[in-house]
Amino acid sequence: MAAREPEIITSKEQMRRWSRAMRAQGKIIGLVPTMGYLHKGHLSLINEAHKLANVIVVSIYVNPSQFSTSEDMSTYPSDLKGDLQKLMSVDGGVDVVFNPYDLYDYGKARNRGGIQKRDNNVGEISCLEERGGGHESWVRVENLEKGLCGKSRPLFFRGVATIVSKLFNIVEPDVAIFGKKDYQQWRIICRMVRDLDFAVQVIGSEIVREDDGLAMSSRNVYLTLNERQKALSIYKSLSKAKHAAEDGQVNCKRLKESVILAIEEAGGKVDYAEIVDQETLEAVEEIKSPVVICVAAWFGKARLIDNIEINV
Ligand code: PAF
Repeated sequence: MAAREPEIITSKEQMRRWSRAMRAQGKIIGLVPTMGYLHKGHLSLINEAHKLANVIVVSIYVNPSQFSTSEDMSTYPSDLKGDLQKLMSVDGGVDVVFNPYDLYDYGKARNRGGIQKRDNNVGEISCLEERGGGHESWVRVENLEKGLCGKSRPLFFRGVATIVSKLFNIVEPDVAIFGKKDYQQWRIICRMVRDLDFAVQVIGSEIVREDDGLAMSSRNVYLTLNERQKALSIYKSLSKAKHAAEDGQVNCKRLKESVILAIEEAGGKVDYAEIVDQETLEAVEEIKSPVVICVAAWFGKARLIDNIEINV
């Protein structure tokens, strides 16, 4: 049976009022932050939220500050109507969809002298700054944001940490659920919450995969059928490396090489394949404690990320 249609809230003042009213009634508020174009992976985050909270907010917001000007913000897939249908198919439904229009003040910076390059080594600017960006306060998680995806996307986690802080400040959730597919993002949010004393419990939810192993992602829509087939090499190679590690191969260089080779042989372009400590995300040479193998690879227009934990 389809659940009720969620209430759609578009202003931050109204969102905060709603949350405060819920809290006054003693409700536990769960937040699932998303950029929309929902898939089963997102729906599993909502199921997790239901286990821990009485009322559920799903935010849908394509965040300009986490896209660089060379990335795909304008073509990022979106389908609010379809998303609402999917949310109604979840057991217990969703109380609110927070779909804000006013999360950033675009200001007049552009008129005052235009876009300025930032001192982030690569001179990259984000879509937000390109739009004018009357916003200059950022949350950075200095070390965790540097490696893995942070290398090729130097402003990405600044944008993520900042928007998630804003969502936490507006929605004031008791618990927030993030997918472990975005492993680095999840760790960064956990660290930010710890370091900045946000009063929210952050939960990492397991990766949801298609039957053939491909990690679910809104970006899978960019894959042709042929590329999608080739992209299966990511999970296959990660699983193989995990088995090898469990069978005693502790040399990370060897394990990484096997992953890179398998993906390249399938026609993918590897951005990185790293074996890192699960907490610090620092690269390890030999597996002695829990690690995670993280991969980003291009198949056609799609940059896919995936990972697998090895708990030794
Ligand atoms: O994982 C995402 O979809 C986004 O990075 C998030 C957490 C919603 C922030 O914009």
